[in-house]
Amino acid sequence: APFTGTLRSISPFPFGGAVNASLLRNRPSYSQLAAKEYSSITAENAMKMNALRPTATSFNFTDAEYIVDFARQNNARVHGHTLNWYTSLPSWVTNFSGDSTAWENLLRTHITTVVTHFRGKVASWDVVNEAFEDTGVLRNSIWVRHLGPDYIARAFQYAAAADPAARLFYNDYGHEYSTAKRTAIFALVASLRSRGIPIHGIGMQFHTSSNISDAQLASTIAQAGQTGLLVHISELDISMNPSKATTATFTPALAAAQKVKYKAVTTAFRALPAAQRFGITTWNVADADTWRRGNCSCPEWPLPFDDNYQRKPAYDGIVEALQ
Ligand code: G3I
Repeated sequence: APFTGTLRSISPFPFGGAVNASLLRNRPSYSQLAAKEYSSITAENAMKMNALRPTATSFNFTDAEYIVDFARQNNARVHGHTLNWYTSLPSWVTNFSGDSTAWENLLRTHITTVVTHFRGKVASWDVVNEAFEDTGVLRNSIWVRHLGPDYIARAFQYAAAADPAARLFYNDYGHEYSTAKRTAIFALVASLRSRGIPIHGIGMQFHTSSNISDAQLASTIAQAGQTGLLVHISELDISMNPSKATTATFTPALAAAQKVKYKAVTTAFRALPAAQRFGITTWNVADADTWRRGNCSCPEWPLPFDDNYQRKPAYDGIVEALQ
């Protein structure tokens, strides 16, 4: 029988997407689909530091609030992304010339203000995003250079102090293709936990591709479950043009292969203990909206909905895994 439900109606765990505030405002096909399908919403860009902090002394919550209101109106959870990242910083931060005390104040003030502002509306956060290189070495980011590697622990402490009920995540990409990076991330999380630092979950972005085997995707998810923490597939999209060929087209064979990948990820996630399933979030809604097209200047179709906001075979793969 044809499927008449939605992702949110059949999923036993939150299923959502990242959204863009201007598309939500201006494109009804986009906002209607997000409202209908998702029980969890992440801001693709609106909660990043460059979006929230035009100047050192001002905050602009307009787009972030719009997304939060949209989610509340549609009875969807909001997951916050992201309190700390090495990029998408406002220029006043990249040009900031202060001593380590001033940098610490900057880190603390930002996290405290944002988490406090959204307390009661945003119940979970990506506290630190992408702190590691693919080699498993800590990235020599602006934060490490000014504050040393343990800024990560303090970022979690500041977030917990501002909202003791918030679920706090370390979020990164590449777990599925770099054993070294995955190992380093799981070790960081274990070390934070052993020190009593409040951390509740691992966000695995899964900007992945047809190059990664189903078994590899599944074992990565199972290994994240072994940490005992919440697991969020936080930015899922599956490239079917990993070689970035400029002449590629989305053939029925590629659509069928993508369906198998989405089904594999969803099946592996569903197999985690229920209490650890924070959810699956795709990175934006439809192929028309994907960051990947701008990133590679090539054809891309990484999402479960096509350029016209219609369900793709990838969508059916998710449904088959959830039914
Ligand atoms: O809004 C401005 C617009 O005013 C301006 O004219 C235009 C010119 O460049 O830029 C627009 O901002 C862009 C923004 O997306 C909104 O579209 C930025 O340049 C562009 O850098 C930004 O890219 C985002 C990227 O993160 C960097 O913040 C992508 O949309 C977003 O999908 C991507 O998301 C990241 C996650 O946060 C972390 N994990 C990886 C993931 C993919 O890169």
